[in-house]
Amino acid sequence: MALERTFSIIKPDATRRNLTGKVTAMLEDAGLRIVASKRIHMTKEQAEGFYGVHRERPFFNDLVGFMISGPVVVQVLEGENAVAKNREVMGATNPANADEGTIRKTLAESIEANTVHGSDSLENAKIEIDYFFSPAEIVG
Ligand code: PPS
Repeated sequence: MALERTFSIIKPDATRRNLTGKVTAMLEDAGLRIVASKRIHMTKEQAEGFYGVHRERPFFNDLVGFMISGPVVVQVLEGENAVAKNREVMGATNPANADEGTIRKTLAESIEANTVHGSDSLENAKIEIDYFFSPAEIVG
């Protein structure tokens, strides 16, 4: 098994409800280590760039608007098979379809306010980590 790094965002619905500790604990309980973390308020340009791949999708403007509606916590997670492990603990995009015990099933409000983002591949994890963090900010 490979030691991997993946990228996570604790979304505005979670910071608003003071759930950043609870989300972080669920990530750590799943065996992921937080090797970088910062609370930021994304600009519109930052969010549009980050979600650029979804630009043509009907929910793009809603997604960007939501992601800049409050602070978020961006994190780098490290662990064995971190990308898949994080996707597993996050649960399905729509909390209504998420498995019991996952972050989204337990905490998410809706398909938009779904509490966490996680990279969907190792390749995208690297791109997303580099989008928000310099190497010096990541301490393994
Ligand atoms: S995935 O993982 O890319 O297959 O998920 P996907 O369903 O394609 O969704 C991509 C991101 O868009 C968000 N999303 C939405 N936001 C607002 N409204 C609606 N209807 C909606 N549907 C999907 C979803 O939460 C994903 O955000 P991230 O931050 O990548 O998890």
